[in-house]
Amino acid sequence: MATSRRRFIRQISGAAAGTWALASLPAESRARTISAGMDPVRPDDEQFWAMVRDQFPLSHDRVYFNNGTVGPSPYAVAEAVKRTLDTLDASGEYGGWEDARPKLAKFVNVDEAEISLTHNVTEGINVVAGGLPLKRGDEVILTTHEHVGNALPWLNRMRLDGIVIKTLSPAATADENLNRISDLITPRTRVIAIPHVTCTIGQVFPVKQIARLGHDKGLWVFFDGAHGPGMTMLDLKDIDCDFYATCCHKWMCGPKGTGFLYVKKEMLDVVQARWVGGYSDTGWDVTVNPPEFKGYVPTAHRYDFATQNAAIYVGVAAAVDFLTHIGMENIVRRGNALAAQLQKGLLGLGDGVEMLTPTEERSRGMVVGFRLKKIAYDKFGEHAAKKGFRIRLVGESHLNSIRVSTHLYNNPREVDAFIAAVREVA
Ligand SMILES: Cc1ncc(COP(=O)(O)O)c(C=O)c1O
Repeated sequence: MATSRRRFIRQISGAAAGTWALASLPAESRARTISAGMDPVRPDDEQFWAMVRDQFPLSHDRVYFNNGTVGPSPYAVAEAVKRTLDTLDASGEYGGWEDARPKLAKFVNVDEAEISLTHNVTEGINVVAGGLPLKRGDEVILTTHEHVGNALPWLNRMRLDGIVIKTLSPAATADENLNRISDLITPRTRVIAIPHVTCTIGQVFPVKQIARLGHDKGLWVFFDGAHGPGMTMLDLKDIDCDFYATCCHKWMCGPKGTGFLYVKKEMLDVVQARWVGGYSDTGWDVTVNPPEFKGYVPTAHRYDFATQNAAIYVGVAAAVDFLTHIGMENIVRRGNALAAQLQKGLLGLGDGVEMLTPTEERSRGMVVGFRLKKIAYDKFGEHAAKKGFRIRLVGESHLNSIRVSTHLYNNPREVDAFIAAVREVA
């Protein structure tokens, strides 16, 4: 009764509004459930997207264009985390992080037995890179545009076990990237381990075709999916890779320090669990002689273990709900439209701009990377910061370039203002 009095559903009327609705939580909460309804929300439905923006505590005195590094959480997520911390500290109870696993599994269309809860992308990459049975001379394919998180775990195996790393530099089209990967495959190749979307220029690789190519050649296929969930319509069953490591703290706008790793069921006994503990096993006993370890649980749960921070995983479940209510199709259309507006605007500035992100539609998403001929990237960074833009400068791969990420809380006016700021110096 009290709850129903404090709750309400407000139907927004107006020219642009479709069937979407706004539901409030209790009065003291700033969190709103924004339900897009059955009809698609237009990417230019500014009334709807302004309502989404209002759900983020982001300050209004600057423009946040750095979701590629970390995504701010909406109130619903932050409040879920705080509430759980309070509840657990009041009750002294243990547990509560498990609900995130089925939510995440459904979000990316796999079985919950294939999901391991991690704390960032790099952790998941280490599980796979460290657990695959690779021998001296075995070859692994990376790109020249790796984030340190997908470079070091494989380079570490090169150092420790003598595997060989082969690299491709990303091309502007999906077909050419497939050719480049294909050309690198030799009888010694064991793994393709490249990003779904690069951290440098936001290049989207044709992951489904790459997985097929890899499997046709008998390889294991791993994707560094830091920029997958929340930025793309991620369907891991459809992509059909063997492993996919990602986080919830970028495009999913979940709590910081949360992530997950997908390991295809058939691969569970292939990726050796190097770190194990509570919940990894089906039984153990050190009171018998010899001591006994029965085996691993038949799920990817074997790779995560022991006590977790329940509050942040409750926050992950809230983030999945937040995105799902808005609708991933709607979010992808909005974010991509903003990035396309930005790319077009920058290209329109002429020769002074060197566009690094592919213009091919299937090879780009919500990130735009570029360089300016007349001004060094770090100087531009200072200029942009003075104008109130939070962007990312890319030193990786010696690119010395500029990266802008657009997400569900950005809008076309911010993009236009950024293009104007570039025009001033380009
Ligand atoms: C492509 C890519 N891989 C891996 C990482 C590492 O992510 P995390 O810090 O969550 O491990 C990042 C972070 O920006 C990234 O962009």
